[in-house]
Amino acid sequence: MMNKTVVVIGSQWGDEGKGKITNFLSEQADFVVRYQGGDNAGHTIKFDGVTYKLHLIPSGVFNPNIKNILGNGMVINPIHALQEIQALKKQGFPCNNLYISDRANVIMNYHMEIDALKEETMGEGKIGTTKKGIGPAYTDKTAREGIRIVDLVSSNFPALYQEKLKAKNELITRMGGKPIDYEASLATYLEVAKQITPYVTDTVTLLNKGIKEGKKVVFEGAQGALLDVDFGSYPFVTSSNPTSGGACTGSGVGPTKIDEIIGVVKAYSTRVGSGVFPTEFEDEISKDIRERAHEYGTTTKRPRRIGWLDCVVLKYSAMINGLTGISLMLLDILSGLDTIKLCCAYKVDGEYIDYIPADNGLLARCQPVYLEMEGWQEDITNVKSFKELPINAQRYIEKIEELIDVKVKIFSVGPDKLQTIVRENIF
Ligand code: IMP
Repeated sequence: MMNKTVVVIGSQWGDEGKGKITNFLSEQADFVVRYQGGDNAGHTIKFDGVTYKLHLIPSGVFNPNIKNILGNGMVINPIHALQEIQALKKQGFPCNNLYISDRANVIMNYHMEIDALKEETMGEGKIGTTKKGIGPAYTDKTAREGIRIVDLVSSNFPALYQEKLKAKNELITRMGGKPIDYEASLATYLEVAKQITPYVTDTVTLLNKGIKEGKKVVFEGAQGALLDVDFGSYPFVTSSNPTSGGACTGSGVGPTKIDEIIGVVKAYSTRVGSGVFPTEFEDEISKDIRERAHEYGTTTKRPRRIGWLDCVVLKYSAMINGLTGISLMLLDILSGLDTIKLCCAYKVDGEYIDYIPADNGLLARCQPVYLEMEGWQEDITNVKSFKELPINAQRYIEKIEELIDVKVKIFSVGPDKLQTIVRENIF
């Protein structure tokens, strides 16, 4: 069967290289759809020698033939959206292929303020959020107190904003912050609303019509499965569902319309922010990986925590997402190591387990059980096929497939689009 709709999700803690692979797949797609999260994401895409960093805008924006949707499940900071659009326009991308869901919730200035104040007051127990207002915006959405894009661009916005801001300013003051000035901020929002109005539409109908016509769709997940509000190490998670189910609720496309679910996997592990990370290690090797792969947050610039590949995490991820294939990223970064460790189980309280417990205390006591594999010394950045890989790199890939029972359909040996090897076509 030919695939028409493909969900691309992060299988670990985000930053797996989703931007690159979505951009790669989107060359054959008619739609690229973001379905959750907001500008907490940072998707890096490199082509023609230039690096682009996107936070809100889907990765298909560079191709004028692709319709790029910011779906209803997202929380959108309209000021940041406009800044990103303006920056892209300056770089020569007109952005008239963007569609913003009228149903998406808006991240307002007060959400950012509350996010930052909350993190400050939590001290040691802080989540380590990106301070983009993601949590507070989703909180309001679920509490049915949010402002949606449709409200932002309507003539009722000033009154609605005044009412919401009054309550939020009381909260901000209680938290020790400075209240936001209504008049000054309203002027900014009115201007922004005017400028984003042309992009706002009923994306649910647009996308479903496209699918009915046989158009190809890439759903671009942000963050990763282990940051999912339901499946991650709660509360050290983001406030949305990056897992594949989120693609349906966050875009208005039914589950029966999804053909393939690709889990993007980094060849080792990283995590930004707080929370349990069983295979984390800090030594010369992790420092070297961090520098060579430039493992610093795209959005926050924080150094990322480094760990070995965790197949317990990947098996869990394969299960909750229903993965049909894997795209293995940054394999080249592991070149030059004598030994590569692969976590295949956890040992906890004298027992072996191969699942992720809900109890964070139990998870924190889990000791990774490693399989040690021989590394390879060769530079693999110019490899064009699986067979050209050093035998130990081939074995590493095959071991991952064996442990999680999902095929590695694509692998990547460098940041450029040309350094992407497809073992099985997705579209
Ligand atoms: P929030 O999404 O800003 O609320 O942050 C919640 C957690 O998710 C923090 O640990 C962040 O570091 C993490 N996070 C959010 N977005 C990303 C991302 O795009 N990549 C990696 N981690 C992320």
